[in-house]
Amino acid sequence: MVSIVTLAHQHVDDGAKLFVQSYAKQRESMACLPPKYAKHETAAQLLEGILENHPGVATLSDGRLVGYLTGYGMIPNFKSIQPGAYVPEWAHAAADGHDRERIYQFMLENLSRAWIGNGSFAHAITFFAADDALRELFCWAGFGLLVVDAVRVIDPADRLKPAEPEPEIVIRQANEGDLEELARLDNELINYLQRAPTFLFPDHEKEPDTAVEFLGENAFSMVAEKDQRLLACIRGTLRKEDACTIVQDASVMGIDFAYTDPNVRGMGIGRRLLDEILDWGRSRQKTACAVDFESANALGSAFWMKHFSPVCFSAIRHVDPRVAESGDG
Ligand SMILES: CC(C)(COP(=O)(O)OP(=O)(O)OC[C@H]1O[C@@H](n2cnc3c(N)ncnc32)[C@H](O)[C@@H]1OP(=O)(O)O)[C@@H](O)C(=O)NCCC(=O)NCCS
Repeated sequence: MVSIVTLAHQHVDDGAKLFVQSYAKQRESMACLPPKYAKHETAAQLLEGILENHPGVATLSDGRLVGYLTGYGMIPNFKSIQPGAYVPEWAHAAADGHDRERIYQFMLENLSRAWIGNGSFAHAITFFAADDALRELFCWAGFGLLVVDAVRVIDPADRLKPAEPEPEIVIRQANEGDLEELARLDNELINYLQRAPTFLFPDHEKEPDTAVEFLGENAFSMVAEKDQRLLACIRGTLRKEDACTIVQDASVMGIDFAYTDPNVRGMGIGRRLLDEILDWGRSRQKTACAVDFESANALGSAFWMKHFSPVCFSAIRHVDPRVAESGDG
């Protein structure tokens, strides 16, 4: 008999096992993903940490856990002016060999009711890119792709084959003298992402500190310069923050900024900067590089998908807030 109950401490052990199985599948196609998340205790710790304050559901089949789903609720201004809920990739799993699709539908129905009940109207979920069945399921459940987390192996011998840039374009590391130009590029990227087709609202609480962000000890910024004007920049970071959980590890470097002036796009400058950034990671013993991007950003998607492979997809669904007034939830 299948039943759905509130996710609780007694489900953590079996829940962590289910997650470890699904992570193992993703790692089959991307062996450079950190082994840390293949450990039962890591998954158990993550689940324990969310249980206390956030609603979750568990599916039992004859008393045995076959699925769980939980997430952070009531996140203020979550991708809208409304609060929302977010489910990381480790906050859900379902056993193979059962009716996985039905289990997910059942859990989603129950948990989304709780989210709407507590006023969370945008629902986002991150899941492994290798899980085609889940992607299909969330699509049918009304979710659309929002963000892609992608990874590239940093192989000791692997250099991109960059096109030779024009001789007057200098490729070099950014320095203190570039701060004004870097701030300009930063602003241009924010404006670019805010416009069609991406429509990304710049959700910054405070003004970014250009010196820390581009030249701080955790960052490495390569720029393309011509006539003392910066044409492009890619920024690497020692770790990938603000991304899906499974790329957060000392072995994985990140990229969190890339911008080329519209007049010189498609000339191989981005590829050239990327090659240098990966080389920096290689010299810091990084074995993989992670990046995340909005799937609606056609230029960004085309560039990253050429050089990286997706590891997680994040999909979102916006529920009409008026349903709360009509009594659902
Ligand atoms: C992503 C970006 C930094 C790439 O920089 P770039 O200097 O153009 O990079 P490259 O020239 O090395 O590569 C661009 C690739 O996109 C392809 N491309 C596809 N459509 C393109 C277009 N409309 N214009 C330019 N290039 C295009 C190019 O053909 C090229 O592929 P190739 O390597 O097979 O030749 C740049 O497009 C950009 O600034 N985009 C807007 C900001 C952005 O999206 N940043 C990333 C945020 S996550």
